[in-house]
Amino acid sequence: MQKLIIGNWKMHGDAAMAHPLSLTIADQADKRQEKVQTILCPPALLVSQVAVWLVGSVVGLGGQDCHTEASGAFTGDISAAMLKSAGCGYVIIGHSERRQYHNENNELIRRKTAAAINAGLIPIICVGESDMAREAGKAQDVVGAQISECLPEEAKKGQFIIAYEPVWAIGTGKTATADDIEQMHTYIKAQLFGATGLASGAIPVIYGGSVKADNAAKIMEIENVHGVLVGGASLKADEFCKIMAAA
Ligand code: PGA
Repeated sequence: MQKLIIGNWKMHGDAAMAHPLSLTIADQADKRQEKVQTILCPPALLVSQVAVWLVGSVVGLGGQDCHTEASGAFTGDISAAMLKSAGCGYVIIGHSERRQYHNENNELIRRKTAAAINAGLIPIICVGESDMAREAGKAQDVVGAQISECLPEEAKKGQFIIAYEPVWAIGTGKTATADDIEQMHTYIKAQLFGATGLASGAIPVIYGGSVKADNAAKIMEIENVHGVLVGGASLKADEFCKIMAAA
């Protein structure tokens, strides 16, 4: 299986920064395509431009969020169909920053996931526990509930990706230990089998949270880790290319 390397640019960048970044990553991704599948998730306003810069490359393109409806009177929102028509094949759903700053809950995330699948996008569904939940020994309970409550019927087709991102590891420089990651990924695989009946190899489960060039290889060696979701380090071409090389 190729490793999945997904860059989440969040609300960073402009065209001047995104153009050389996209071209450098596309060049690396094309050279490494046997081992690595690369996906970039720029801010919505840059998606169409990045799509043009990536023409002819193997790099996939994703949005960072979508609405539950295909269209309608929802000022400021973006539908999955719009992302699709702008050139996206993927969309991040339920990122912990959306859960925290936009009050997104599992029920809303399930509906967004259904909308994404129905529009022909592959959702990258984010799950992960807070530090309080981990300290209370409830990390698996939280993630297990997120998996079962965020997956719609449509997920049974198996066209989705799970990103395990412990909330306390995002943008903090802290990463989970190899044992914690392995245990959680193994648990997620079992939960996915229970929820969808799909064989455990069918759905990629990737890790996110302070992934950098110097820890990426170790993280991707861990059993049941099929790739990484990278925030901060995806904004620097050399750092992101090193993560691709690590895969
Ligand atoms: P980070 O972000 O790599 O900056 O920790 C990861 C993410 O939020 O997807």
